[in-house]
Amino acid sequence: MLNVNNLTKKAGNGEILKNLSFIAKRSEITAVIGPSGSGKTTLLRCLAQLTPISSGNVQFSGQDLKELSHGEIGLVFQNFHLFPHLTILENLILAPTSHGIQKEIAVQKAHQVLKQFSLGGKEKRFPSEISGGQKQRVAIARALMLDPPLILFDEPTSALDPEMVKEVGEIISSLQDSKRVIILVTHEVRLAQRIASRVLFLDHGILLDNVESAEFFSTDSTKLSKRAQRFLSNLS
Ligand SMILES: Nc1ncnc2c1ncn2[C@@H]1O[C@H](COP(=O)(O)OP(=O)(O)OP(=O)(O)O)[C@@H](O)[C@H]1O
Ligand SMILES: [Mg+2]
Repeated sequence: MLNVNNLTKKAGNGEILKNLSFIAKRSEITAVIGPSGSGKTTLLRCLAQLTPISSGNVQFSGQDLKELSHGEIGLVFQNFHLFPHLTILENLILAPTSHGIQKEIAVQKAHQVLKQFSLGGKEKRFPSEISGGQKQRVAIARALMLDPPLILFDEPTSALDPEMVKEVGEIISSLQDSKRVIILVTHEVRLAQRIASRVLFLDHGILLDNVESAEFFSTDSTKLSKRAQRFLSNLS
């Protein structure tokens, strides 16, 4: 499991994340919800080690997160971040081959993962030649190439239409595995309601609520923070 202890992230004179502590379990999807600017992306960037934390620590299966290699953390961004000048296949094998995996083995794995996501046959296309939903599936496929035990999604459905949101949600849900910790930052609260086990609600860098999904979305929200209640009441 992922164990975050008193994580604080400072920028300039302020704190973007304030003393966050939570656990994200394997086999579960942990959703992170909160208003714009609450620190969700910064949290993922800290967990992916794209930016250093200011204090606190993060353990993954009892090991300091810093000891994990980049290949062990899969990060899927909001806007896909595919390389436009590379084909789908080349996008997928780039990280594995630069991690020293033989090209033939990476290509074989890429075919397998693309097939799993109904993208077989798209290997030679460029990102500009496939749809938004397909791009997001490629981005997820790419993040899985090294079988990372920790997968972080930052708004993976924000560029998608409602049907695609459902489809990508089903794919994310299908990734739940006893070997994996999945963290999903999302504005789509209905998606979180459908597929997440736990919900973390952030506001101004403070973790206000950390509850089971059923509790977060229960009709009786009186146990939640006032801020989460207001956030939820603005949805319908
Ligand atoms: N490198 C940085 N330096 C200074 N401030 C930053 C930096 N990165 C983010 N911030 C600030 O930290 C706060 C949290 O930003 P973050 O991108 O994590 O929010 P978010 O919850 O992902 O928002 P959104 O829902 O809009 O994506 C914002 O006020 C932002 O302006
Ligand atoms: Mg963000």
